[in-house]
Amino acid sequence: MDITSFIANMPKAELHLHIEGTLEPDMMMSLADRNKIALPYASVDEIRAAYNFTSLQDFLDLYYQGMAVLQTPFDFYDLTNAYLARCFAQNVTHVEIFFDPQGHTARGLTFEAALDGITSALDETERSLGITSKLIMCFLRHLSEEDAFETLEAALPHKDRIFGVGLDSSEKDHPPPKFMRVFKAARDAGFTAVAHAGEEGSAANVADAIDLLEISRIDHGNAVLNDAILTDRVSAAQIPLTMCPLSNLKLCVVDDLSQHPVRLALQAGLLATINSDDPAYFGGYISENFLAVQHALNLSFEEICQLGRNAYLGSFMDAGQKATAVAAFDAFAAENTP
Ligand code: ADE
Ligand code: ZN
Repeated sequence: MDITSFIANMPKAELHLHIEGTLEPDMMMSLADRNKIALPYASVDEIRAAYNFTSLQDFLDLYYQGMAVLQTPFDFYDLTNAYLARCFAQNVTHVEIFFDPQGHTARGLTFEAALDGITSALDETERSLGITSKLIMCFLRHLSEEDAFETLEAALPHKDRIFGVGLDSSEKDHPPPKFMRVFKAARDAGFTAVAHAGEEGSAANVADAIDLLEISRIDHGNAVLNDAILTDRVSAAQIPLTMCPLSNLKLCVVDDLSQHPVRLALQAGLLATINSDDPAYFGGYISENFLAVQHALNLSFEEICQLGRNAYLGSFMDAGQKATAVAAFDAFAAENTP
């Protein structure tokens, strides 16, 4: 099997995916129509043409605007089902997805409108296609600590359906210390913590996310490699990094994919993984991310296998599910690696 077919066919886990970032332009148009929402675009082509970002903030402005078409639990259900259909087509067997409740409650929706739609689709798809999942709700870091506490409060009755808390949105100007207390409260309530760090921000943000927010996984973490001491520490602790190559390219975190740090991360012993972040905005789902970075860095079969296996190792599956998934991945690799 050549490496392109290998990537397409290997079992995958996706650990960094914002469900609102899977809103494809055609679905944006049809939901706008269904919900009588005016869009500043006349066509799918116009929407795509607007996806020319120079920074994270540039993208976030359109991302928050786009999610306004999501109005009812059915919209979230359709959105999640469309993503899961892509997962099935790309042999993704396990997903850990983010949602941004404050992006919806700020528009007058209930916390449950998003949660119910997303979890119905996740539950149904586990039964019909066997794709397993965990749901992580992110606090928007450009909003206040108080707003994050209100969101945590709204989540407490639904702890059975929400596995973890994350931190996303504008990294610049909103470093981890702002959310120390709400993360402690969330961890005390039993949520697992993760955070975006070291995407546009510095290695110090990653260290603070580890020390102050006590996260179990780093989302992005590109900047870890800028600090040798932190690299050794993250490697020794095997804290997973959920890297997102096409996102980094589209948001100008790297100028060119040939400069992406994922190979350096593997060489430094980091538990790096490949993910799609906001695939509808960045031009590709998980397989396209693997293919693009393989091509740009000429990654070997061994490196691709390591990345694919790391996703299962870095997931929040329980020990038994993880052992089964890693064994299935290793069996696939043994049968199909030249
Ligand atoms: N929200 C959605 N995608 C994001 C990203 N890549 N970084 C920060 N916040 C986000
Ligand atoms: Zn992200």
